[in-house]
Amino acid sequence: MKRIAVYPGSFDPITFGHIDLIERAVGLFDWLIVAVAHNIQKSGLFTIEERLDMIRELTKDFDNVTIDAFDCLLVDYVKRVNACCVVRGLRAFSDFEYEFQMALTNRKLNESHETIFLMTHESYSFISSSLVKELIEFGGDISAFVPKVVEKRLREKFYVHRER
Ligand code: COA
Repeated sequence: MKRIAVYPGSFDPITFGHIDLIERAVGLFDWLIVAVAHNIQKSGLFTIEERLDMIRELTKDFDNVTIDAFDCLLVDYVKRVNACCVVRGLRAFSDFEYEFQMALTNRKLNESHETIFLMTHESYSFISSSLVKELIEFGGDISAFVPKVVEKRLREKFYVHRER
C-alpha cells in the first residue's frame, strides 16, 4: 500500500521555505500531495488557481508529487485522498503553539492520521509569504526568498494593484 502524505498550506505565494520542505518530504513518502487550502483567517493575494500554477511549475521535476486544492476541513480531505500523514513545517518556536493546536484539533476530529513536523532549513527559518509580499510592495529585493517565477508573478500582481 502506498504511503501518501498531504502537505497543506496557503502558499500565498510559495517560497523557498516551502520548496525546501517539499524536497525533504518527497523522500519520506511514496506520494506527496501539495494541497492549497483557503485559510479563512488570511485574505489571499493570489487566487487558488494562480497559487496552483506556481507550485505546479516548481514541482514538475518530481515524479511522486501532485498538486491539488481543497475547500473543506483538512481531516476530511486527508481521508478522501487516503493519506496517512499531514506534513507541516516548523520554522521557529513561535510556530509551535499554532501548529500544536491545529494538529491536536485534527487528531480529535480524526485519529487515523498523524501530523509530522519537519524543521525548516535554518536559511529559511525567518521567511514568510507575508514578509515577501511586504518587501516587494516597498521595492525590496526578494530574490533570496522566492524562485524567479514567483518573483515575476508578484511583480505583475503589485503592478496591476498599483494601476487600479
Ligand atoms: N519555510 C518558511 N516559511 C514557511 C514554511 C517553511 N518551511 N512553511 C510555512 N511557512 C510560512 C508561510 O509562508 C506562511 O506565511 P504567512 O503566515 O506570512 O502567510 C506561514 O508560514 C504559514 O503558512 P502556510 O504553511 O502556507 O499555511 P497556513 O498556516 O496558512 O495553512 C492550513 C493553514 C491551510 C493548513 C489550515 O488553515 C487548514 O488546515 N485549513 C483547512 C480548514 C481546516 O481544516 N481548519 C481547521 C484546522 S484545525
